[in-house]
Amino acid sequence: MIKVGIIGCGRITEYRHAPEYLENKDVELLGFSDVQSGRAKLMAEKFGGRDYGSTEALLADPEIDAVSVCVANVYHAEVTLAALKAGKHVLLEKPMAATLKECEDIARAAKESGKIVMLGHNQRFAPAHIKAREMIANGAIGRVLSFHTVFGHGGPEVWTHDPNSWFMRRDRAAFGVLGDLGIHKTDLIHFLLDEPIVEVSAQMGTLNKRYADGTLIDLEDNATALYRTRSGAMGTMHVSWTFTACEENSTRIYGTKGVLRLYDDPRFSLIHEPAEGEVQQFRFRGLTSNEEQKAGKRENTGVINAFVESIVTGRRPPVDAQEALKAMRVVFAAIESAGSGRSVAVDQE
Ligand SMILES: NC(=O)c1ccc[n+]([C@@H]2O[C@H](COP(=O)([O-])OP(=O)(O)OC[C@H]3O[C@@H](n4cnc5c(N)ncnc54)[C@H](O)[C@@H]3O)[C@@H](O)[C@H]2O)c1
Repeated sequence: MIKVGIIGCGRITEYRHAPEYLENKDVELLGFSDVQSGRAKLMAEKFGGRDYGSTEALLADPEIDAVSVCVANVYHAEVTLAALKAGKHVLLEKPMAATLKECEDIARAAKESGKIVMLGHNQRFAPAHIKAREMIANGAIGRVLSFHTVFGHGGPEVWTHDPNSWFMRRDRAAFGVLGDLGIHKTDLIHFLLDEPIVEVSAQMGTLNKRYADGTLIDLEDNATALYRTRSGAMGTMHVSWTFTACEENSTRIYGTKGVLRLYDDPRFSLIHEPAEGEVQQFRFRGLTSNEEQKAGKRENTGVINAFVESIVTGRRPPVDAQEALKAMRVVFAAIESAGSGRSVAVDQE
């Protein structure tokens, strides 16, 4: 049995981590910690285990083998490094950390500790994305030339339990929509194409997301990026917190022999349109939207199972710290590009 503790008891813990640990037969969920009084207790009442009272107390429990780190972004590095020092395996939520140095510190500490460190990049576990990666690798659309990917919804306040959400405060979130949603789609492009993005040109803006007093938030609510991959494929990413009426979470990959359409059709999660021949349509599980999750719709993302499997088998997790660092380098390059107005080369080693 892998014994687990969860640090940070907000929405992602309530909707995904805690229920998915309960669904895993190799796991015993020992308890929770949170800086907000009541949240850990609430989770313990709902999912079992206990309220440790503090993260220090949770990490000091020698029974705990592994933790989920589900705290506000700027605390990711501090809590993850403390957990590794305490000898725990770590499943860290995205975005990896607030600065490139912190991301590198985590990657280094992960390597030195010999512990499993995995990132909660759940887009990699969506079945249509897995199938698409396989099809691209097998040459179904020939050589990939270009792509576009979009992720947008009405903003984090429709998701979190906190009406004064830290998500929209630079001192707690570090990033706006680029770190929140852009990291998912940047990592997804790495996953689908199996090669890194090496050049970025980006724009960011705060167009309409406001605090309760009507002033614009101090983070970007929209970001667009032009990406170039190592093999020379070009594509765009648009991420937004101002898609007011509906959530969009889709991708298209264009190759020399056809196109793959991912989650852009309400009926089919994957459509393969070859330049010649029959169109193929697949119905896989969807990407659950924020609205659906709040309404109680839940499907196992596969993230927790993959983390637990890595611990049990000792195999590298599907998205480890090194892999996450590649996507974070692109995010930081996009921020630099948006600030300077120039395209930025990404050093991917
Ligand atoms: N993978 C995904 O698709 C996905 C989706 C949503 C959120 N997330 C990530 O999960 C993390 C948590 O997001 P959320 O939506 O659950 O936010 P939330 O605001 O609902 O919950 C965060 C919780 O962490 C607690 N907390 C903050 N700092 C802490 C600290 N230093 N120590 C202990 N507890 C602390 C807060 O009190 C709060 O209860 C964020 O990093 C977010 O980006 C990932």
